[in-house]
Amino acid sequence: MTDLERKHDRTPVPKEWAYAPAPESRDVVSLDERYGHYVGGKWLEPSETYTTISPATEEPLAEVGQATPEEVEAAVAAARDAFENGWSGISAAERAKYLFRIARILQERSREFAVLESLNGGKPIKESRDVDLPLAAAHFFYYAGWADKLEYAFPNRRPRPVGVAGQIIPWNFPLLMLSWKIAPALAAGNTVVLKPAETTPLSALLFADVLRQAELPPGVVNIVTGDGRTGAALVKSEDVDKIAFTGSTDVGKAIQRELAGTGKKLTLELGGKAANIIFDDAALDQAVEGIVNGIYFNQGHVCCAGSRLLVQESIYEPVVEKLKRRLTTLRVGDPLDKNTDVGAINSEQQLEKIRELVESGEQEGAEIYQPPCRLPEKGYWFVPTVFTNVAQSYRIAQEEIFGPVLSVLTFRTPEEAVEKANNTPYGLSAGVWTEKGSRILWMAERLRAGVVWANTFNRFDPSSPFGGYKESGFGREGGRHGLEPYLRFDNEPSHD
Ligand code: NAI
Ligand code: MG
Repeated sequence: MTDLERKHDRTPVPKEWAYAPAPESRDVVSLDERYGHYVGGKWLEPSETYTTISPATEEPLAEVGQATPEEVEAAVAAARDAFENGWSGISAAERAKYLFRIARILQERSREFAVLESLNGGKPIKESRDVDLPLAAAHFFYYAGWADKLEYAFPNRRPRPVGVAGQIIPWNFPLLMLSWKIAPALAAGNTVVLKPAETTPLSALLFADVLRQAELPPGVVNIVTGDGRTGAALVKSEDVDKIAFTGSTDVGKAIQRELAGTGKKLTLELGGKAANIIFDDAALDQAVEGIVNGIYFNQGHVCCAGSRLLVQESIYEPVVEKLKRRLTTLRVGDPLDKNTDVGAINSEQQLEKIRELVESGEQEGAEIYQPPCRLPEKGYWFVPTVFTNVAQSYRIAQEEIFGPVLSVLTFRTPEEAVEKANNTPYGLSAGVWTEKGSRILWMAERLRAGVVWANTFNRFDPSSPFGGYKESGFGREGGRHGLEPYLRFDNEPSHD
């Protein structure tokens, strides 16, 4: 066919090109039938267990331990012993060596970890492969570099390790949150007891094998699995010097109450209800990609998700139209398929929460849009959803949904955008889309959020501190700031 013939060719082009399945192989992961707790460099036989599943299929994957207070105490004692008898005494350069090793092993085993993360957590393999794993390794590399430079990071303050850190993490980025917690703690010379979330324990248990490979001294990192009761026992443990928690605001508040007056150090990284603000001079197609990445990335199980879209009134219609059209192209399904954009909801409990909030949105009078989409029969799924006609008082504009659900609101002036964006008990992140640099700076000064992204969203880097204002918590993770909660300085009271 010549160019001219092609120009006049009227054969209809198929509207939709079908994707062939492109599943990542599971063979790279080998699961044990049953896992214990990793304490003092050994596997401790658990006294109670439960079954962890794949949320995409409800298939049982393994039996894991539900640590009792006694088992938690054994882990804390192992961490204390390792802290007193070795780890805090070895040279900083030596500590860095272990962190570099862990980072390199994570890179080498990244495919295995990515598959396991998607299998146990439901997130698309594309994301665990391209986001979670590279960032987890980067975090260890980054803090390895700080280990022997603490005196330079905090000049004239004589930084010293805190002791034993108890760390409780959520299920949305299991291995990445483990890295955010463990890397700075070890770089600063502490030892650790970490508790992964009950629905996603497997990558933390595989991480124990990385520690073995890296020949990390026994007891420096201990891993106990179990639900909130295990977490509560860790918080209560007398011999823990610091608690680092990422999860719900309610549990964060309970932990803060529990620790009040004990002198134990605490950092909390809690929920969010971020505004993603689109001005009329923004590059709309890029902004629409940013909106989609902001709320549908990781099924919206993201504390800093752009769950409230604020669109300038004059561009409301084109933005909503482009967004709806883009939603029809999102592929929802098998997390292990390389073409999947939106995977499974992490648990039945989380699916219930999303459904309940979406129902409240419809009842309160918002208009719902969901693209045509066929969901798998088994497992936990939710169609990517957009709500328009949302009033600020609606629950879907106030509460964290933690699912693939976007609420669209409008504004006329930058002042109104700031007022609406800040009208939430949270303050974790925000996004601003505009061509004008001066407006970006004006907005960033006024938004009460720990991170403000400009013409992008959900970008992370280990060198950049992350954390919240108000009910999103306190303390920072990442960057030099992320070392501070794991250090004690001269003239600072200590917990005894
Ligand atoms: P959660 O706060 O109950 O769980 C997070 C972690 O805390 C888990 O490891 C859990 O076992 C542990 N935990 C639970 N109760 C505890 C207690 N009393 N003491 C110590 N540790 C405890 O969060 P959940 O129930 O999984 O999710 C509920 C909502 O929380 C989500 O819908 C979402 O809105 C929010 N959330 C926010 C996260 C974030 O990244 N900021 C992460 C996970 C949930
Ligand atoms: Mg809970």
